[in-house]
Amino acid sequence: MRCFVLALPVLAAATSVVAQAPKPGKDGKYTISSSGIKAQFIPYGATLTNLFVKDKNGEDVDVVLGYDDIDYYPKDPGHPVYNSIPGRYVNRIGKGKYTIDNTTYDTQINDGTNTLHSGTNNWSYRVWNVTEATKDSITFTVKDASNSSQGMLGLVHGQVTYSVSGSTWKIKMEATSPEARTPLMLTQHTYFNLDAFKNPDTNKIWNHTLYLPYSKRYLVADDGALPTGKIGTAAPNSINDFASRPGLFLGHARSDPKFSGNCGGGGACEGYNGYFLIDDAPKDAVVVSLGSEFSGITADLRTDQAGIVLYSCNWMDGTANLKSTQGTKTVKKVGRSSCVAIEAQDYVDGINQ
Ligand SMILES: *[C@@H]1O[C@H](CO)[C@@H](O)[C@H](O)[C@H]1NC(C)=O
Ligand SMILES: *[C@@H]1O[C@H](CO)[C@@H](O)[C@H](O)[C@H]1NC(C)=O
Ligand SMILES: *[C@@H]1O[C@H](CO)[C@@H](O)[C@H](O)[C@H]1NC(C)=O
Ligand SMILES: *[C@@H]1O[C@H](CO)[C@@H](O)[C@H](O)[C@H]1NC(C)=O
Ligand SMILES: *[C@@H]1O[C@H](CO)[C@@H](O)[C@H](O)[C@H]1NC(C)=O
Repeated sequence: MRCFVLALPVLAAATSVVAQAPKPGKDGKYTISSSGIKAQFIPYGATLTNLFVKDKNGEDVDVVLGYDDIDYYPKDPGHPVYNSIPGRYVNRIGKGKYTIDNTTYDTQINDGTNTLHSGTNNWSYRVWNVTEATKDSITFTVKDASNSSQGMLGLVHGQVTYSVSGSTWKIKMEATSPEARTPLMLTQHTYFNLDAFKNPDTNKIWNHTLYLPYSKRYLVADDGALPTGKIGTAAPNSINDFASRPGLFLGHARSDPKFSGNCGGGGACEGYNGYFLIDDAPKDAVVVSLGSEFSGITADLRTDQAGIVLYSCNWMDGTANLKSTQGTKTVKKVGRSSCVAIEAQDYVDGINQ
């Protein structure tokens, strides 16, 4: 069993970096590598384009979604925030409103009746600056002017450093807001398929296993995937249970009638698009373990964040192309429910709850 580790600490502190003008390869991608991992990035959205790890046969497998053509990222009409940093406030802001110091601000409504990923000038659509790159580490920065994410005031400096060592990919995000109190919540939004869409038995994600040992509790959400303020507790083997034992399939509740509408969308969203709390995890404990028997790859997450968003790609509609490193002769597109995003972050819509 091969195993790689994601570590996702989010810190708030000021740093300064001496710029050196790092260079990408001919394909426009910056490559960092270690003994167990090769990771590639582009400045657009501070996006991870490829993540190669070894499978059970020692072969390199590209386990994340993306495009071969880096020029397609900004053109993709679906723009699923592929493996990027959607800031300055990720996920939903309920009804496009929040209040700070008795002033209520309106953010842009772009997802049903809510704001998603900060609206239409979000950080995942910006070309970040590369301020430092070595063989195993790369740092991107973004300067987000006041109100460039509509309704979010004050300048913000954002920075992410990705590094690899052994079989660990580490993500360190920092942001500072020197001018104003402003909504600020970051995540790294990578989509995984640990089989690289090569499993002949299934091109769905349901036969990946998921273990969330500290996440019995989840945020109850409405039909638009907005938390209601209630916290639910999943009974063993119920639809939102990934805590009671290791080895549960992501699709373990597929025969439950609630599964086909479990993430809202008027009953159209099958699977998961919700937030699981991480309760009482010891420091540096593995809080998420995603695995696939087909490739023999396991991804373990350690984070200092309060929980994770789990999204099982219901809204992928089969139009997006797979990379040449993925798929088979017959599987060439990203089908519905064929991937999973695991986003360590603070409580969704925490600013209003
Ligand atoms: C907000 O309003 C409350 C109630 O009127 C008041 O006590 C408080 O001082 C106000 N806070 C600020 C930061 O203006
Ligand atoms: C992010 O911004 C882009 C560019 O303005 C926009 O097309 C896209 O819809 C935005 N994403 C979301 C989730 O609103
Ligand atoms: C990149 O750096 C340049 C020069 O300092 C600056 O003008 C620009 O705003 C930066 N871009 C981003 C996305 O922060
Ligand atoms: C922020 O931008 C929006 C348009 O994008 C504008 O309606 C609003 O007045 C601006 N707010 C401030 C405080 O400048
Ligand atoms: C796939 O997952 C289902 C549960 O969703 C399980 O019943 C089935 O045995 C699994 N198939 C394989 C090939 O692992």
